[in-house]
Amino acid sequence: MDKILVEGGCSLNGEVEISGSKNAALPILMSSLLADGWSTYSNVPVLKDIESTSLLLQNLGAEVETDGNTIRINASEVRNHEAPYELVRKMRASVLVLGPLMARLKKARVSLPGGCAIGARPINLHLKGLASLGADIDLKEGYVEASADKLKGADIYFDTITVTGTENLMMAASIAEGVTTLRNTAREPEVIALADVLNEMGANIKGAGTSLITIEGVSALNPVSAEIIPDRIETGTFMIAAALTKGDIQIKNCQPDHLKGVINKIKQTGAVIETGDGRIQVKGVDEILSTDVKTVPYPGFPTDMQAQFMVLMSVAKGLSIISETIFENRFMHVSELKRMGADITLSGNSAMVKGVPGLSGAPVMATDLRASVSLILAGLVANGQTEVSRVYHLDRGYEAIEKKFERLGAYIKRIK
Ligand code: EPZ
Repeated sequence: MDKILVEGGCSLNGEVEISGSKNAALPILMSSLLADGWSTYSNVPVLKDIESTSLLLQNLGAEVETDGNTIRINASEVRNHEAPYELVRKMRASVLVLGPLMARLKKARVSLPGGCAIGARPINLHLKGLASLGADIDLKEGYVEASADKLKGADIYFDTITVTGTENLMMAASIAEGVTTLRNTAREPEVIALADVLNEMGANIKGAGTSLITIEGVSALNPVSAEIIPDRIETGTFMIAAALTKGDIQIKNCQPDHLKGVINKIKQTGAVIETGDGRIQVKGVDEILSTDVKTVPYPGFPTDMQAQFMVLMSVAKGLSIISETIFENRFMHVSELKRMGADITLSGNSAMVKGVPGLSGAPVMATDLRASVSLILAGLVANGQTEVSRVYHLDRGYEAIEKKFERLGAYIKRIK
């Protein structure tokens, strides 16, 4: 297993280019199942999760051609309706084949994703929505077995805001008969990006980005050529890196509008932030001010930025309360940060972070995608060397991130 070594004490300066968004690419690639013929997707990040998605689509019968950041998919021959456990357990977002398979084949057998490090992560709302559209749902031997004569439009209310739930139902309803109304939907930019691609394919979806989405079913969708939006979480991660290391980073190929909640919070810590067309400049300041943060659905502060922000607060002046309201167990990075000298006390879904003058390097272990990058961030400012193990979590969601940090002046290297 690869490890990443980081020498602390550097400040990051220069330019970094943001890759395509993992969480936009996953549902958009799955939506290729809805059309006959070749679709082309550009600015797709080169990630383990994208590789898993290609494997899964090929397993279903699609042809997939990958050339760097461009992927072409032809779903004309999709006949197999099963997403097996060995593929789904590697990437829970595989559940995003449910909607397209139900729309296209009117049947699906998808392994239940099972929990992951950050929580139980049920898909009950995905299944409830599909049942509303007329699907018969059975849970057998750890698999969801869904079938329908046809899908009919329905009025669906999500008890909890769910990003992939909203995406699955948008895809299923796009070729259902009649009108579907989705209420209390997720408003993430990745939901809007998927709706835009589906509409390009001939769907009739209105309201994506709001809490009320209406979908008028059409008989079929056509192949598409689409570009993946920039990754707002990778963008936020480099913003934190600049503030943390008191550096000056020009972040390019990003979407500042997708980060209003994050920009607002990082400004409160004293960092100087300037945004322009497709770019954000962040200058760190000597004294990092502490501020409280609560993770909430978009457009609030994202849960995927919580671990990174906690590192910044761990070396800020004063006390910060970080509340995680989305996942029940997304503090796995806390024990690792405490081994580096952070002063953090957990109580329920809140972490009380008392800023310390500095962290010290240590061997630490990554537990989930975002936690792994927070340990690298901590290593950048810690005294001495930090060795991060289990970096396969990192490779799932960040394209060549150690190279990007190195180009900004970090002393970082990957050891096999
Ligand atoms: C998406 O996961 C993202 N993944 C996650 O990013 C992100 O953290 C999360 O949204 C929240 O923003 C992708 O887009 C591929 P949810 P998702 O359904 O859709 C509960 C990363 O690091 N819930 O919005 O799985 C659930 O337990 C990943 O890139 C139900 O109870 O998250 C959670 O508490 C991590 N029943 C809350 O809703 C359901 O049927 C939000 O989950 C569905 C969800």
